Amino acid sequence: MEISFLLNGETRRVVISDPTQSVLDWLRAEGLTGTKEGCNEGDCGACSVIVTDHDGAHPLNACLMMMPHLQGRALRTIEGITGPAGALHPVQQAMIDHHGSQCGFCTPGIVVSLAAAHLNGQSDYDDQLAGNLCRCTGYAPIIRAAETAKTAPVPDWMHDTPFTLDQVSSGGTVAAPAEAVGGRQPPFLPADADALARWYRAHPDATLIAGATDVGLWVTKQLRTLEPVAFLGQCRDLQQIDETPESYVIGAGVTIAALRAAMEGPYPALAGLLRRFASEQIRQAATIGGNIANGSPIGDGAPALIALGARLTLRLGDTRRDLPLEDFFLEYGKQDRQPGEFVESITLPKGVTGLACYKLSKRFDQDISAVCGCFNLEITEGQIRAARIAFGGMAGIPKRAAALEAALTGQPFTEAALTAALPALAQDFEPLSDMRASDHYRMAAARGMVLRYLHEAQGAPSILEVQP
Ligand SMILES: Cc1cc2nc3c(=O)[nH]c(=O)nc-3n(C[C@H](O)[C@H](O)[C@H](O)COP(=O)(O)OP(=O)(O)OC[C@H]3O[C@@H](n4cnc5c(N)ncnc54)[C@H](O)[C@@H]3O)c2cc1C
Ligand code: FES
Ligand code: FES
Repeated sequence: MEISFLLNGETRRVVISDPTQSVLDWLRAEGLTGTKEGCNEGDCGACSVIVTDHDGAHPLNACLMMMPHLQGRALRTIEGITGPAGALHPVQQAMIDHHGSQCGFCTPGIVVSLAAAHLNGQSDYDDQLAGNLCRCTGYAPIIRAAETAKTAPVPDWMHDTPFTLDQVSSGGTVAAPAEAVGGRQPPFLPADADALARWYRAHPDATLIAGATDVGLWVTKQLRTLEPVAFLGQCRDLQQIDETPESYVIGAGVTIAALRAAMEGPYPALAGLLRRFASEQIRQAATIGGNIANGSPIGDGAPALIALGARLTLRLGDTRRDLPLEDFFLEYGKQDRQPGEFVESITLPKGVTGLACYKLSKRFDQDISAVCGCFNLEITEGQIRAARIAFGGMAGIPKRAAALEAALTGQPFTEAALTAALPALAQDFEPLSDMRASDHYRMAAARGMVLRYLHEAQGAPSILEVQP
């Protein structure tokens, strides 16, 4: 199949024979070798590029992005950060002036991330650079460079405007050609959820690819050949958050970055947890649907959404079914999903007041949880009326702490009562020991989170969370 996109402002049409070829591999084969390969798994940011779509400009990892992701979008690499006739971007000039580069391997990725932040008017550099690893310069000169460039105007060449985006096909349903190209089946790029539903029902063994922050690793690390595949990125109807008087209906294709922004007002505890989800580049690609569908016991989305009382809508053809999110996770690696059925949306109730989310991992940023505990307690007149508590990292699936909830309900909201309820956690969970944490540590951490909820509700300052 042929895809079209803007590459550093120029229209490109590319026939792709390998639908899961990474954008990084393609760029380097094209001679655009400023984009580096460090880890090839989304951790180091050496491959950072900017992709602009209808929703704005996003820093992304080219190592996890696949060529069909580019359809109808604008790609800007480090080569396109420099202007015509070699004019330096203000970030590049400031990096030189502040000695922000030593060996230089990370530098293209860091410049791209900072140029994206500059373009988007963002100056939370700890967040913006959390996905860019520099092993030799140290971040102080880099942050000084970013601060210096902050007030400089955005150079003209950085604007991949809607006008230029319209010059390339916006995608739509890219029909699968009858003939496979180069022996590989072409990818399917449905334009909306209806087209996806029809195709997936007819191809139930296919792999759905949303942000590819999980699936990308199956290709780059496990060297798997995936066939057939469908890319969900053109389904704008899956990327909406709709509000009803009682709820938020979150499309499966909403990115973690978009969900974080939308939840700042209603559920700041959820937004705060999502700030600690991977890095900016991953959050801009990863979807909440992919985070649920992968069934990971250590995914960050599920515990928080379960504690909030989320419901999941699954769709098979034109048939939809709705279930409490916790019921979707059956056992490790097994979810309640039929062949050809996909995650369409997640519905969150409005008006929950008692949510708190605690992510425990070895690093503040860009790290998977050892334990993630999410709490939603209804307390009136000092008594716990209802409790919804869910943990990640404590079992083979994200799971409600049903015994703890029962032990807490009806009790006074006091340290004595909470401490007395803690042994119930042992009925709920028998955690594993692995490289992230031992079973004993996980259980102790989960107990600690219960008491932390009380102490924070009583106004104790959080001394446990490292704040940059
Ligand atoms: C460096 C790095 C750091 C990470 N850090 C975190 C972290 O801190 N917290 C965390 O929770 N996760 C983390 N992850 C994991 C990953 O980013 C998330 O699981 C992400 O939400 C997956 O979403 P995606 O859109 O990229 O899914 P994809 O990779 O596209 O797909 C994941 C799975 O879901 C399926 N799928 C996707 N969409 C649908 C749908 N609508 N219906 C049915 N099936 C679907 C795919 O077929 C696949 O099986 C990290 C990953 C990387 C590479
Ligand atoms: S090469 Fe390390 S994030 Fe892509
Ligand atoms: S300058 Fe060497 S890794 Fe950053």
